Amino acid sequence: MLANAKINLHLHITGRAENGYHLLDSLVAFTSLSDDISIEPSDKFKLNISGSTSLSSVCSEQDNLISRVTHLLAQHLGIAPHVDIRLLKNIPLAGGLGGGSADAAATLLLLKDIWHIKSNDILEKIAASLGSDIVACLYNDPVIMRDTGNKILTAPRIPPLHGLLVNPNVQSPTPEVYKAYAQSNRPFSDNIVFPEQFHSAMELCAFLKAHTRNDLTDAAITIAPEIGIVLNALDQIPNKLLSRLSGSGATCFALFENAGDAQSGYELIKKAHPDFWAKTVTINQI
Ligand code: C5P
Repeated sequence: MLANAKINLHLHITGRAENGYHLLDSLVAFTSLSDDISIEPSDKFKLNISGSTSLSSVCSEQDNLISRVTHLLAQHLGIAPHVDIRLLKNIPLAGGLGGGSADAAATLLLLKDIWHIKSNDILEKIAASLGSDIVACLYNDPVIMRDTGNKILTAPRIPPLHGLLVNPNVQSPTPEVYKAYAQSNRPFSDNIVFPEQFHSAMELCAFLKAHTRNDLTDAAITIAPEIGIVLNALDQIPNKLLSRLSGSGATCFALFENAGDAQSGYELIKKAHPDFWAKTVTINQI
């Protein structure tokens, strides 16, 4: 099963929960960049991880999330967690693309079949207990995340998009970025009320540009200054409709009307910054 990377088309911090977590309003969409997970019944719990990108060479966090959802679900069902899990990693780690969360969500969905679970309720409960993006990843379709990320609202209908993802080959750990955000004492943003539908990539991007932002951008740049270089480089690409940081970074994205413009953007970035990780993707076309 493919576990698709998400991007946050916008991310507003709207308040603070009693447990210290931040309240969010974020429109999330899924890209064609994916990890690949397969699971088979086995005589004990096994997890095998392979992958190619430098940013995914250390998988301890993903490893933990996959193991943790498996063990929690088995515990809930009163059975042994005896499955053989194989993960092929492509999504950069701690990259703002929700790779670990996508892996955890795909694991839950695969185990649902293997262990004959009828409803999604227990999957959502376990997902919500482990991380802010996992519930959204169970949907694998555009959604609006609210509350600390676990409350899911229907997203506006958005058109298929073309994107370019760029990471300066640094990690931008989520807890540190939120801590830097909290220390900046920025005023909170509002929840966005979206129209029911966007008819074109241009219409969606014009709306996002006029009404929304990623409130974690400045904080992420203080943790990983290279993010500022990526955002400047993306801003200079001709024909890009919008460029922005995803989640808590360090991956940034640019959106385009067509695949040719995304590919030209990729070539420009690779020429100027051969050391950056970059990837063209389709968005909302899974
Ligand atoms: O849920 P996740 O593992 O992505 O969160 C990592 C850390 O980011 C949390 O421990 C918390 O410090 C911060 N965070 C937050 N508010 C959120 C999500 C994450 O403060 N809504």
